[in-house]
Amino acid sequence: MRGKAAQALGDGSKTPFPPSAGGRRAGRGEDVAGIRPLVAGNWKMNGLGDALAELGALRERLAKSPVPEADIMVCPPATLLSRARAALAGTTLTLGAQDCHPLPSGAHTGDISAEMLADAGAAAVIVGHSERRTDHGETDALVRAKAEAAHRAKLAAIICVGETEAQRGDGATLEVVRRQLEGSVPDKARAANTVIAYEPVWAIGTGLTPTPADVAEVHGFIRGELGRLLGSAEASRFRILYGGSVKPANASELLFVPDVNGALVGGASLKASDFYAILSAYSGRDAR
Ligand code: 13P
Repeated sequence: MRGKAAQALGDGSKTPFPPSAGGRRAGRGEDVAGIRPLVAGNWKMNGLGDALAELGALRERLAKSPVPEADIMVCPPATLLSRARAALAGTTLTLGAQDCHPLPSGAHTGDISAEMLADAGAAAVIVGHSERRTDHGETDALVRAKAEAAHRAKLAAIICVGETEAQRGDGATLEVVRRQLEGSVPDKARAANTVIAYEPVWAIGTGLTPTPADVAEVHGFIRGELGRLLGSAEASRFRILYGGSVKPANASELLFVPDVNGALVGGASLKASDFYAILSAYSGRDAR
């Protein structure tokens, strides 16, 4: 991530993710609309202080062999944000956080506001992840409020959607995704401050992935729905990430599917070598 996005580290006042390449010739991974891919690592509830060594290792690998084709983000737990900011200072990597409270402050013991995350160095926050929807019973309305909170704090919202195994089995995938988008995406969402992540619940942490054709179908559908909700010009600039068992071995297959503009990576983002190997799919290098 260059220029503006790099400056966004620790400064929520900038637009964090210019998603379009702006007049450059489309590079590997950019689609016809020139959308610059984003690969974000979601560490979930993993990582103590010693995990920062992985950031150091990632930083070193990228310094030696950069991947200029994609924006790169790491979303550690909130406890590591400030230290991760220091560990990544001077690089083009950005930091994201995981979840936020809808309100800016108040009597909500244990919660963290979007403003606090921005203050700690985040440029984005993941909301509506299926683990939050399941573990905490989060509704679409709450996810939308959290995305609005992110925007209020000048963070990008990475809004997750995706069907369960049973819903896919019932042929309800598109209907579920449509409902989640309609309920979770704020009216004022724009490509510059919002990213959609399609994460089929049954693919998360299982090693299972949809076929490229299935991914293409859902991503195309999501872009169409965003067009219906926000206008097709805006929708054509949105980044739609795929998430669910993205690994070095399947990155090349999944990242170049039409309407896939990057990935939200869980388990494989915890190890610098695996995360880098996924990133390097954009450079056409096989770093496995
Ligand atoms: P895995 O890559 O571990 O399947 O997790 C995906 C995910 O939930 C990212 O948010």
